[in-house]
Amino acid sequence: MKKILVTGGAGFIGSCFVKMLLKRKSRKHIVILDKLTYAGNIKNLEGYIDRDCVEFVKGDICSTRLLDNVVPGVDIIYNFAAETHVDRSILKGASFVRTDVMGTYTLLQKALEYKVSRFVQVSTDEVYGSLDKGKFSENDPIEPNSPYSASKSGADLLVRAFYKTYGLPAIITRSSNNYGPFQHPEKFIPLFITNALEGKPLPIYGDGKNVRDWIYVEDNCRAIDIVGRRGKIGQVYNIGAAEEKENVYIARKIIKFTGADKNLLTFITDRPGHDRRYALCARKLKSLGWKKEYTFNKGLGKTVKWYQENKEWWQEVKRGSFKKYYRKMYGKRIAASREEKAKK
Ligand code: NAD
Ligand code: DAU
Repeated sequence: MKKILVTGGAGFIGSCFVKMLLKRKSRKHIVILDKLTYAGNIKNLEGYIDRDCVEFVKGDICSTRLLDNVVPGVDIIYNFAAETHVDRSILKGASFVRTDVMGTYTLLQKALEYKVSRFVQVSTDEVYGSLDKGKFSENDPIEPNSPYSASKSGADLLVRAFYKTYGLPAIITRSSNNYGPFQHPEKFIPLFITNALEGKPLPIYGDGKNVRDWIYVEDNCRAIDIVGRRGKIGQVYNIGAAEEKENVYIARKIIKFTGADKNLLTFITDRPGHDRRYALCARKLKSLGWKKEYTFNKGLGKTVKWYQENKEWWQEVKRGSFKKYYRKMYGKRIAASREEKAKK
């Protein structure tokens, strides 16, 4: 029986990945290791962690002692665990360096020591930096612009080094922006959907013309699974759905889908170092047989519906420490934007 370790499995993408694995009939034992930071939520796994083939361990990927208990006997590791929000990394980056760099290093060491047969590092297109035209390919240089993407880049380089130096059978996936159910409302799409449902401002950074290449979370999880099974050791695989959209286009779509007042759209001071555009070439991934199932329109419609039907989930998340973060991040910028509008 295959023993699979999913770190960060209580987060947005990790929990979707666990659910996808469980839908499959094959015999397996899944160990979910998650620190349950503010971003982790055990409710994301409701109805799944009480199964016999699933074991949930609350803990830190930086703990060698814990990994000495968890990693022996594991066949494949999927490392989703990370600090993930760019804006938080700009406010305070230490936890990003700790988890994304040191945590990955600790996990790599233990994967090597306990002879894990595959290590899949879940990385991001943000490591490439920003580009005006064209698409990033796996051979492009790493040029990160935020403490988050710099930490993820550090992890990618360590994964590469463990493959080159020690022959660790590792693979890296670099996906574009995910969206879908269970995404923390600090991120753009769920923040805008939930604020629209609450009649609150939709705080758009700068001119709103930054572009991201959006992928529905289930499409990314299927891709990570395919790369884990069919990908070539030592390689990097981009995961993108070729759905490039400007932020302001998405904001207007969300207003339309939710029926919110269009005056909620509020342009505020830009994010420092804000990457203008991401776009990925996913040819290498497609050669493994992957194809997206969701267009942006279909995925966004499904996502809005989920947030409309699962208010309890996000209202609880928004009630906690999120309130303080939201005030700090948006309070003055929204007020300044209102003042400016009033002057005109
Ligand atoms: P998320 O913030 O929703 O979840 C991260 C999870 O990791 C949480 O459950 C958290 O509790 C856990 N975690 C954090 N620090 C930990 C630690 N030290 N030890 C153990 N667990 C810890 O993030 P997500 O959006 O699901 O992203 C998952 C992975 O995918 C990350 O590695 C991220 O860099 C990558 N990624 C995300 C996107 C995206 O658009 N969300 C795109 C590309 C890549
Ligand atoms: O590209 C993959 C990355 O996508 C992942 O590696 C990160 O973990 C994930 O957080 C995401 O990073 P982004 O910075 O692109 O995502 P975010 O949701 O924070 O922002 C998306 C875009 O929306 C970006 O151009 C900034 C803008 N934005 C975001 C927020 C939160 C706003 O205009 N207003 C907002 O309030």
